[in-house]
Amino acid sequence: MQNKFDVIIIGAGAAGMMCAIEAGKRGRKVILLDHAKKIGEKIRISGGGRCNFTNIHTNNKKFISSNPSFPISALNQYTHKNFINLIKTHNIKFHEKKLGQLFCDESAQQIIDMLQLECDQAKVTLKTNTSVESIKKLESFLIETKDITYESESLVIATGGLSIPKIGASKFGYEVGKQFGINIIKTNPALVPLTFSEAFLKKCKELAGLSVEALISFEKNIFEEGMLFTHRGLSGPSILQISSYWKLGKTIEIDLSPQQNIFNYLLEKKNKNPKQEINSIISEILPKRLALMICEDLKISGRIADVSKKLMEIVSESINHWVIRPIGTEGYRTAEVTLGGIDTKELSSKTMMSKKNKGLYFIGEVVDVTGHLGGYNFQWAWSSGYVAGQYA
Ligand code: FDA
Repeated sequence: MQNKFDVIIIGAGAAGMMCAIEAGKRGRKVILLDHAKKIGEKIRISGGGRCNFTNIHTNNKKFISSNPSFPISALNQYTHKNFINLIKTHNIKFHEKKLGQLFCDESAQQIIDMLQLECDQAKVTLKTNTSVESIKKLESFLIETKDITYESESLVIATGGLSIPKIGASKFGYEVGKQFGINIIKTNPALVPLTFSEAFLKKCKELAGLSVEALISFEKNIFEEGMLFTHRGLSGPSILQISSYWKLGKTIEIDLSPQQNIFNYLLEKKNKNPKQEINSIISEILPKRLALMICEDLKISGRIADVSKKLMEIVSESINHWVIRPIGTEGYRTAEVTLGGIDTKELSSKTMMSKKNKGLYFIGEVVDVTGHLGGYNFQWAWSSGYVAGQYA
């Protein structure tokens, strides 16, 4: 049995649904296939169940790609304002949490329902529980599933990245790329907690539950956001952000008190309040448990008046320039996104179509464009999906 469509989209996540809606609105006959039981599972679990669906500060500098200017065209063709307007027309209430991050007031399910409704209105055929067994390209694309072979003029791959395999992530998109002779940029888990040696972990466990506003840097990349000590090591937004840049074997630097030059602060205290204990001075700046651990590790105690300048420098270094060496990441099991993927040099930035395979499109996370934490990854899915939907 053959089923003819104008556009077949594989992957009913954020990018695939946006593309289906747009192509359907153009009058194209569209089918959206997904091997999972439910559509938009990553949307459902995103943003702690409230979906951080975009960021008002979106620009191409918030993305990592071997080709940093590649996302500009799609991000300009469909901006965060366009998506906000869509949300507003569906009466979904939202708020800015911080740093331009927009979340649903109620539930991420509202975004899925909205996309589903838009798909229905654009007469998109949706088939879940459908695995693709093979893809062939003759005059048109032939997509073979267990029961049906579908045929289409355009094929859009929107199967996402490798993170969280238990809710449907697969390497399908990269394999399709390889089948069509497309280069794949090496993939890696990103926005992922880092892991540490046993000795370091022991300290983190003692501090578990503590959070600080930290400035974390790796090479030229700097993030100032919350950092959390946990039983598994360090986590929180600033650690997730730096994980997208960190390279195995290298160190990262943490400023535990970015607003305060500790050396100058200690010097001031030494002059003004020489009898104050150094432990209590540091506890004024950092959470007490952390302050005490630092003093204990450096074996310092007593009145600030008796602490040498040399020792003050050491304390200051360990707070303002704490250097740590992660031993790895938690991997795709807990990563929010996948770095790398379909090489953007292979795609038109205007249409998302493969340069050497007419009618074949790649959108969303499967492409080598990875956003920072904060709603940027969904914005990339909406923008790239929208663009392909105009041309597929
Ligand atoms: P997505 O992964 O959404 O969709 C891919 C679809 O393809 C899935 O439905 C999957 O089942 C299907 N598929 C895969 N292989 C297939 C195959 N072989 N055959 C058929 N179908 C197949 N981003 C953000 O901006 N704000 C946020 O708040 C969050 N929060 C967040 C939390 C967590 C826990 C995770 C894991 C991720 C986030 N993200 C995020 C990232 C965001 O979810 C992600 O970047 C987008 O969902 C990517 O959209 P795509 O449509 O490209 O892939």
